[in-house]
Amino acid sequence: MAGEEIHFVPHAIQQPEHDTVLVVDFGAQYAQLIARRIREARVCSEIVPADVTPSEVLAKAPKAIIFSGGPASVHVPGAPLVDPALLDLGLPVLGICYGHQLLAQMLGGYVTESGGREYGRTKLEVGAGTSALFSGLPVQFDVWMSHQDSVTVLPEGFVALASTEGSLVASMADVTRALYSVQFHPEVVHTDRGQEILHRFLFDIADCRPNWTPISIVEEQISAVRVQVGEEGDVLCALSGGVDSAVAAALVHKAIGDRLTCVFVDHGLLRQGETEQVIETFSRNLEIDLVHVDARERFLDLLAGVSDPEKKRQIIGETFIRVFEEVALDYRGAQYLVQGTLYPDVIESGPRGAAKIKSHHNVGGLPESMDVELVEPLRMLFKDEVRRIGTELGLPDEIVWRQPFPGPGLAVRIPGEVTRDRIVMVRAADVIVREEIDKAGLEREVWQSFAVLAATRSVGVQGDGRSYGYPVIVRAVVSDDAMTADWARLSYDLLDKMSTRICNEVPGVNRVLYDITSKPPGTIEWE
Ligand code: XMP
Repeated sequence: MAGEEIHFVPHAIQQPEHDTVLVVDFGAQYAQLIARRIREARVCSEIVPADVTPSEVLAKAPKAIIFSGGPASVHVPGAPLVDPALLDLGLPVLGICYGHQLLAQMLGGYVTESGGREYGRTKLEVGAGTSALFSGLPVQFDVWMSHQDSVTVLPEGFVALASTEGSLVASMADVTRALYSVQFHPEVVHTDRGQEILHRFLFDIADCRPNWTPISIVEEQISAVRVQVGEEGDVLCALSGGVDSAVAAALVHKAIGDRLTCVFVDHGLLRQGETEQVIETFSRNLEIDLVHVDARERFLDLLAGVSDPEKKRQIIGETFIRVFEEVALDYRGAQYLVQGTLYPDVIESGPRGAAKIKSHHNVGGLPESMDVELVEPLRMLFKDEVRRIGTELGLPDEIVWRQPFPGPGLAVRIPGEVTRDRIVMVRAADVIVREEIDKAGLEREVWQSFAVLAATRSVGVQGDGRSYGYPVIVRAVVSDDAMTADWARLSYDLLDKMSTRICNEVPGVNRVLYDITSKPPGTIEWE
């Protein structure tokens, strides 16, 4: 081989294996939903802030840009605008709702205030003549609208493609420049042919290739992690036992092997079998170095006598930081910290703040003062995508499909003082709830299911005598994102099984209640 020239092709300039579409975020949750729909069409999507510059866009080499909806009116001072030069990049653009109106206004059309308010399901009439955006679709179908302002004058070069009773211009296009827009929301399920319209834009207009899957991000992230952490030095990861940090750790381990050390702090407030499961999975099955810190006594001693929910959280969060810092001292050279930050967390922290990630993700608090660089291989992914990757990386279902579990653990399911006895009780009841949910095949249907130990006591009759025990409250909710939730309509039979087993099998418990509160007004956890 001597004398041969070796060429290294930098990762960044390799031909991308998949196409990307940028979604310009004008606020609210619209951009996230659009980004999801694009990914469901197997095209990679990335959300960018409204003040993205043309050179930032070009650096990402997208195939198209989508302007999202947003809560503002284009007439309100301070309404989000984009650099008009974005429209001169030669990229196809699709404006949605606010994006539709902004496009009209920027290009010399007119948006009338309170022109034709439409909320909810509306009939769309597709105009005569063929348009790539609606090709093959019926001439009339239901769409979902939510707007006050309306485009009433088309910009030069545009034609109207569709209308509704309240919007003469429910869709428009300048076909020569590949600029399209719709007043309705193709991304919501209530728009009958919404995903097909997005497909027309992605595949027929923007020429995207449908070859992206969350799995395709794995190899890309493995290379990116290698580039970020270089050739030497320790990398730490705080494992919470939840799916996000577990998948992040498994992925980083694939990238750098033994240089990764996971730290798992057992605060004594975990569910039954959880500690063993994490140790088994990580150190035995995946052979990832794991430092298991048994800090149970320390946490429980500090919690003694404390009943205030906020005080409990604060003690747990702070103690976690101290314990982690102590472990990190043994890894003084560690320059990197792996976190399982997901895409919604990145977006939540604000468009321009997106690079500055909150350091309190997952494990209920990490040292803010630690001089380490964050490694976040999942920051482009949504939760269900992370689950698919977890399975791909060989994590067991028990971890991949684990229900969300709060950082402060069982402490927020024991109103009042957290004592060792009460932890034993709530843990035993919790296992029964989860076992019965599992047996009923509801594990993936129910968002979270668990037991709460009430702080009051109740009189009962057990065996031959009077008992004075604690009620257990069973909580089971359905939800999409934990922002809102509804109580799960579990069958009476199932509730009966739980109730009988809990009273029979958990000493000290003589009554079972079912929590029938949605969120809002309640929260999922009790504290
Ligand atoms: P709430 O009780 O606010 O919970 O409806 C919403 C979701 O967040 C979880 N949760 C937490 N997760 N640290 C966490 O990491 C916490 O302090 C915490 N509190 C609640 C809760 O389990 C639910 O999924």
